[in-house]
Amino acid sequence: MKIAILISGRGSNMERLIEAASAPDYPAEIVKVISNRPDASGLRTAANAGIATQAIDHKSYASRAAFDAALEAALNEADVDLVCHAGFMRILTDEFAARWEGRMVNIHPSLLPSFKGIRVQQQAIDAGATISGCTVHYIIPALDSGPIIAQAAVPVLTDDTAETLSARILEAEHVLYPTAVKLIASGSVKLVDGKVVRSLDAKRADTACPPLFSPQP
Ligand code: GAR
Repeated sequence: MKIAILISGRGSNMERLIEAASAPDYPAEIVKVISNRPDASGLRTAANAGIATQAIDHKSYASRAAFDAALEAALNEADVDLVCHAGFMRILTDEFAARWEGRMVNIHPSLLPSFKGIRVQQQAIDAGATISGCTVHYIIPALDSGPIIAQAAVPVLTDDTAETLSARILEAEHVLYPTAVKLIASGSVKLVDGKVVRSLDAKRADTACPPLFSPQP
């Protein structure tokens, strides 16, 4: 499976996907990394790993639709089967999201459907949540609402700040995302009629999945 990763910044999740995909038995290849911010440090990280990179600066486009068209052209040119958003902080047009349904996934730093949008770690703290985590989901037009592929739970500690909680969740993201993408690329997880269908392999991987972070004692 040929994968493109979309980033807007540091790209630590992207880095974990690149690392995972470098294993000979990983069922996917990262063929391109695209950022909407030309100064994203993740672009350098990807280039250093030998991956083709491209900056498509959203500020150079008059409308969201024009930016999406440029992005879609780059994805089609790279002939990718799956697009992984990894800290890609752009909202797509409904039409673009709908065209890529089942072929575009995202990692989000909360246990969806709780805490959508931005500053979700602070949202979790403000709500008094004692457990948060991360979610890998298929992208649909509605923001942070697509069918859920995999999740990992992380405790919210009483003295957490948005920064400490983000760091703990990020650790889980780094394990969860490569695991979830492997399940998709191997065909163990599929989107059928808008619902995620897991094969026995995926169910086994769920129980063996490392991101089982114990709750606060
Ligand atoms: C990650 O925590 C990711 O879940 C989040 O941005 C961070 C990117 O970090 N994404 C979102 O909030 C998308 N709604 P990274 O650039 O180091 O992977």
